[in-house]
Amino acid sequence: MDHNGRPPRSQPPMLPGLPLIGSMFDFKSNRLAFLQRAVMSHEDMVAFRLGRLGAVLLNDAALINQVLMSTGQSISYNRPGGEGTLSRLFGAGMLYRDGASQRQYRKKIGSLFQHRAVGRHASTVAALADEAQRRWRDGSTIELYRELTDLTFDIFTRTLLAADAQDLSEIRDGIQFVYEQLILDNTRLLRPPAWLPTPRRARFEQKLHRLRAAIERLIHEARGSAANDDDLLSMLVRYQDDQGVRLTTPQIRDDLIVFLLAGHETTSVSLCWAFYLLMLHPDTYRRLQEELLHVLKGRAPELNDLRSLELNLKIVKEALRLYPVSIIKRWATQDVSFRDYWVPSNTLILICPYLLHRRSKYFVDPDQFKPDRFNAEAERSLPCSAYIPFGDGPRACIGSQFALLESQIILATLAQNVTFELTPGQRVEPDGNSISLRPVNGIRARVRRRDISAAGDAPSLQAR
Ligand code: HEM
Repeated sequence: MDHNGRPPRSQPPMLPGLPLIGSMFDFKSNRLAFLQRAVMSHEDMVAFRLGRLGAVLLNDAALINQVLMSTGQSISYNRPGGEGTLSRLFGAGMLYRDGASQRQYRKKIGSLFQHRAVGRHASTVAALADEAQRRWRDGSTIELYRELTDLTFDIFTRTLLAADAQDLSEIRDGIQFVYEQLILDNTRLLRPPAWLPTPRRARFEQKLHRLRAAIERLIHEARGSAANDDDLLSMLVRYQDDQGVRLTTPQIRDDLIVFLLAGHETTSVSLCWAFYLLMLHPDTYRRLQEELLHVLKGRAPELNDLRSLELNLKIVKEALRLYPVSIIKRWATQDVSFRDYWVPSNTLILICPYLLHRRSKYFVDPDQFKPDRFNAEAERSLPCSAYIPFGDGPRACIGSQFALLESQIILATLAQNVTFELTPGQRVEPDGNSISLRPVNGIRARVRRRDISAAGDAPSLQAR
């Protein structure tokens, strides 16, 4: 029924496609570019076919809110009768399951990621960011995506696994490999049947086996430790549900892999874009450095400083607006109505935060970098689900508080010490097939070290 109690009239406007494959070829070539073209003709909602599968892209905050807040029977996180790639690979964990036990588990472990709980990692994040920036010589050129991804991986392993990144090359290698395969899967038109052993599958199995074994070793160590540590791994090992049942090793292992996959690259990519935008807007870069110098006077940022670093936070938010994740997926498990339209059961529902965040009905000059748009009043007047860098509703990002804290501290630490300059002659663009919209060719930046010694006596930083 629509909001007037009438049955919805018809299916949403449909993009023309090729016989049999529909829009599959264009979608697989570059998902973001395809979706960008799709909303040119129908801004709020547009349907298309991917082979036999029906898909609908929602690009209106109210419709997206309807989907993301849904806890009912008609919209599910996983494909009905099948499972997404992540849940197939890491399905022993709880995060990629639907239903009541998932909700209960999420509620419990959610507290491990809340602001107060992640705040205790602030000094470690600052120390590791400081170590990274000290390695960059004045006048050298660095590739931001690689440097920042290494940094967020180190932070992740140190704060959440309580392990030293040097011992974790197998895990780093495995996560990188699985991530690349997921992107490759997004671009492949045809997949060999599941029973066919291919060299690629054999390599994947081998890497996955090693990754799992390396994580299981960490879990066994944590189980054997008498210490009451407060890192994520130790807490998962101690977790009990309401009936007192503990998590098995495969469950913890698979959730940790999901955290690693979902957590470290998304953060590094959004920081890459933040610095890219600052390099394109040197006035804002200077304003940020003035704010940092004024508040920090050359010392490392601490948790309590963050509320005074207003522009710093606005830049993080604006980078997440302009370069959020590319796609959020859901599935219609029954016929669902959206305003005057209905979509049939088994339709893939797509949400593209990148397109939504660039709609002029929600943001003035939506394609422009204007961090000051994030003032309290403007944020209050945004419609629900118009700004969704971390999703919304029951499946919103569990690590958002950690990601925001980490991003603010890294941005402040690096920007205070270094001015990056974009090296000429490079083409910077997001990889339309990656979930995190990573820069497809990386971003090369020249390092200009700043002399902030006169600003105050910076205490030396030590990683925990
Ligand atoms: C800037 C960094 C990050 C961004 C932009 C981001 C974005 C998102 C988004 C949009 C979702 C919702 C997906 C959906 O609705 O289908 C999500 C879910 C998730 N994120 Fe993040 N994320 C970030 C950092 C992190 C971190 C640091 C962690 C882990 C510590 C993490 C773990 C997860 C997990 C486990 C889920 C799935 C939650 C569930 O299904 O219940 N993310 N993230």
